[in-house]
Amino acid sequence: MQLLHIDSAITGAQSVSRQLSAQIVEAWKASHPGTQVQYLDLVQDAPAHFTMDAMAPRTGQTEGLSEAQQRENAVSERLVAQFLAADVVVIGAPFYNFTIPTQLKAWIDRIAQPGRTFRYTANGPEGLAKGKTVIVASSRGGMYSTSDAGRAMEHQESYLQTVLGFFGVTDVRFVRAEGVGMGPEAKAKALEAAAQAIATEVHGGAANQAQVTQAA
Ligand SMILES: Cc1cc2nc3c(=O)[nH]c(=O)nc-3n(C[C@H](O)[C@H](O)[C@H](O)COP(=O)(O)O)c2cc1C
Repeated sequence: MQLLHIDSAITGAQSVSRQLSAQIVEAWKASHPGTQVQYLDLVQDAPAHFTMDAMAPRTGQTEGLSEAQQRENAVSERLVAQFLAADVVVIGAPFYNFTIPTQLKAWIDRIAQPGRTFRYTANGPEGLAKGKTVIVASSRGGMYSTSDAGRAMEHQESYLQTVLGFFGVTDVRFVRAEGVGMGPEAKAKALEAAAQAIATEVHGGAANQAQVTQAA
């Protein structure tokens, strides 16, 4: 089994999402022996913002590519091939300015390729990256999941759910630490809730966990 571990927080050793994504990967390896891990740090190894030079995989242009286009295609190809090869993807996704970091958006722009991760059919779009599990390590300074007003303001988990769904990923799980900027007590509570979510989500979600318990 191939696991792709991605981080996108700019905050280095202080990062909550990096801490959570590492814990998720360790828990996954412990319960799925033989898992092969690839690591992608989107801050250390950030793809450039999406530009016309990177558009060829979307326009279908294969002839007469400039040097810049060839260079950008190679970046996109490396990232989409790595994503498609993974059975499990763990994404460290902090909440910055109501959404995901620009580095993570740049990665999504690179892997959103017709014929690879989606295609348009007579019945509408179809995701092509089926059969994967994605676990998102979500960290948030404030509270957004506990009210309609908060949920309406968050474009991080909801965006990831939408775009991964567009790519055909139906098994998207969230491990969330929210309110980490609301004082030490709130942060400790958030990390405790996230630790519990890791125990549940890594074993296949609450429903599967109940089945595992019954079968044991
Ligand atoms: C650039 C930046 C923007 C942020 N924007 C928000 C925000 O809009 N709302 C919020 O509740 N917290 C915000 N925060 C706080 C983060 O969500 C919080 O610190 C979280 O732990 C970030 O994940 P990280 O620790 O992995 O970097 C922001 C933090 C940074 C560094």
